[in-house]
Amino acid sequence: MKAVYPGSFDPITYGHLDIIERALKIFDELWVVVMVNPRKKPIFTAQERMKMISQLVGGKRNVHVDYHEGLLVDYLKKQEIKVLIRGLRAVTDFQYELEMAIANKHLCGELETVFLMTDEKFSFLSSSLVREVAAMGGDVSLWVPPNVAEALRKLKLDAVI
Ligand code: PNS
Repeated sequence: MKAVYPGSFDPITYGHLDIIERALKIFDELWVVVMVNPRKKPIFTAQERMKMISQLVGGKRNVHVDYHEGLLVDYLKKQEIKVLIRGLRAVTDFQYELEMAIANKHLCGELETVFLMTDEKFSFLSSSLVREVAAMGGDVSLWVPPNVAEALRKLKLDAVI
């Protein structure tokens, strides 16, 4: 069975990678899709985010990296995929995720949202936390893979220059 794992991935963290690994234990094929969250202003372009993800999962033949601008349900319909994966870290995620799952179900009745629990060691971790710490020169190497840490360093240098 196929599934889509959508998100901003700005940038991808070890928490997201943990969800990808978990999803692959259940689903045969996974589409990791960089999307636009109208509530957020990304620091990396969609191309940069896709490139970072591809560097990390591109070696897996059953994982595809894609980008979609617009409604998530339209992407799922286009790809003829009926399952969408979201990670849950803590109860604080629940309200927003529930709203999204219900709204998506209203927009496309055939769709199912499957929630996977992030490993407890990543329960505090978010892309926004990573961005904040990296912007202030903190070490994020425990939270993101080396290619992402490097991209954050480069972004900071570019901002200074
Ligand atoms: O990583 P995020 O920012 O929590 O991911 C949220 C995302 C991008 C999956 C969500 O904002 C989304 O689905 N955006 C596409 C627009 C859409 O379909 N909105 C309706 C969702 S109820």
